[in-house]
Amino acid sequence: MSKITVIGQGECEFDGQFSMLEALDESGFDMPYSCRGGNCGACRVKLVSGEVEEIQTPIYETGEGEILTCSVIPLNDVVIELL
Ligand code: FES
Repeated sequence: MSKITVIGQGECEFDGQFSMLEALDESGFDMPYSCRGGNCGACRVKLVSGEVEEIQTPIYETGEGEILTCSVIPLNDVVIELL
């Protein structure tokens, strides 16, 4: 199980949910999102530390050090920051 820390907001556990976004959503975080499919970029956050794996190939191109929470799962403990 990996820990997801959202800077300034708290932390939750990732326990096999479909995506990082789903884990955060289930834990009551008010995360931005729209399409959930890697198209819109609304769920874009900065990955401060830790590693993630893509679970779908996003169309939206993220900047350096950024991830789409709808399109990845954490591989270990991660720290993210809302943009
Ligand atoms: S919610 Fe649209 S790219 Fe993640």
